[in-house]
Amino acid sequence: MDHFQFRDSELHVEDVPLSAIAESTGTPTYVYSKATFLEHLLRFQEAFAPLDPLTCFAVKSCSNISVLQLLGEHGAGMDIVSGGELQRALAAGVDPARCVYAGVGKTDEEIEFALRSGIGFFNCESSPEYRNIERIASRLGVTARIALRVNPDVDPGAHRHTTTGVRATKFGIDIEDTLAFFEAHAGSPHCELCGLHAHIGSPVREVMPYVVAVERLLATIDLLEQAGHPISTLDIGGGFAADYETGEAPPARTYAEALVPILEPRVRDGLRIILEPGRSISANAGILLARVQYVKEAGDRRFAILDAGMHTLLRPSHYDAFHFVWPCRPPAGMTPPARTREPAIPGLKNYDVVGPICETGDYIALDRPLPALERGDLIAIFGSGAYGMSMANRYNSMPLPAEVMVDGTAVHLIRRRETHEDLMSHESRVAAPASG
Ligand SMILES: Cc1ncc(COP(=O)(O)O)c(C=O)c1O
Repeated sequence: MDHFQFRDSELHVEDVPLSAIAESTGTPTYVYSKATFLEHLLRFQEAFAPLDPLTCFAVKSCSNISVLQLLGEHGAGMDIVSGGELQRALAAGVDPARCVYAGVGKTDEEIEFALRSGIGFFNCESSPEYRNIERIASRLGVTARIALRVNPDVDPGAHRHTTTGVRATKFGIDIEDTLAFFEAHAGSPHCELCGLHAHIGSPVREVMPYVVAVERLLATIDLLEQAGHPISTLDIGGGFAADYETGEAPPARTYAEALVPILEPRVRDGLRIILEPGRSISANAGILLARVQYVKEAGDRRFAILDAGMHTLLRPSHYDAFHFVWPCRPPAGMTPPARTREPAIPGLKNYDVVGPICETGDYIALDRPLPALERGDLIAIFGSGAYGMSMANRYNSMPLPAEVMVDGTAVHLIRRRETHEDLMSHESRVAAPASG
């Protein structure tokens, strides 16, 4: 699954011990494995190869420009949701024509930037947004290519914060209203309305929600085409699960085995498929490396307090997400056989693994069986490559962590750790009134 493995009783990323990275870069640090990124991208591309799709990596999941550059150089386009993400894709050298742009609140400036850059597709989320893109494209004298985001009303079984493709969400429009939308909007000289887009949620651990969604989307395409609206592109979004806990997520080929037979005949008839995987490529390509600051007991709880918390990795407190946590140098006999919630190792103690933030909800793992921990121990928080650094924030004036990319024995610093000066670099004190 990934290149984070225990060797000689110590966790390594590819050929580098994590302790060496802590030594050179400090903690907390996001540590990525280049080989793991490429393996996951390749597996995804191979599984869906019969559809010859455009695979647009969801930039929001892991947005460092070195990551985007790596994936772009290996065939990925980008799925973006803001002008900032477009700027990153461009800085990474990705062809803007291979980028698709979703997001419910695109501003005039962002739309103009995307049009001037030559974005591949706007995934349009509403009628007012369509009118705005049309207005700006007309002013610039260009044509925008648009896929309408529709909600196929499928429950993906995901967390309520990441369920997007059901009725009446802020995303897209209900699928029943698609024809009416096309009748109202198609034919503009500045907008080529020629695609459908859907993203049902994340993570989707079952194949069936995709199958149902795709069948509804294809039926809608038939309806549109019968009414004289040709559709060239179908973007079925992302949400393909990552294996946070051994065995819970199907591999890319399982999704593909169900979807390829349904979509292949349409591809033969000229339909172009776009996919937007994020976490299935990035989650297991990164860990968060942190250090135990203090261990303390209170009542029946035992706390390991790290230098990383909800500001560094928001997923546990925001989504109740599970991340496997383990010391990088476990005591003899305590190397975990698998990354499960209940490792079958005698002698473990239960810890609440928490951060330094002044919130009771600041935790990485609760009641987690672990080897005895001490101040100074290095801790790996696995599966943190997706929605880790990209959701990190500066709450409590905590500087953002560093990011490194490991390639074999080479360690590349791809984002330096922020300093206290960085924290205030956009601020200024109100000038004192001139005296006299
Ligand atoms: C429109 C869209 N596409 C793709 C994704 C990527 O999802 P995931 O990282 O679960 O694959 C998201 C995630 O929120 C999304 O909103």
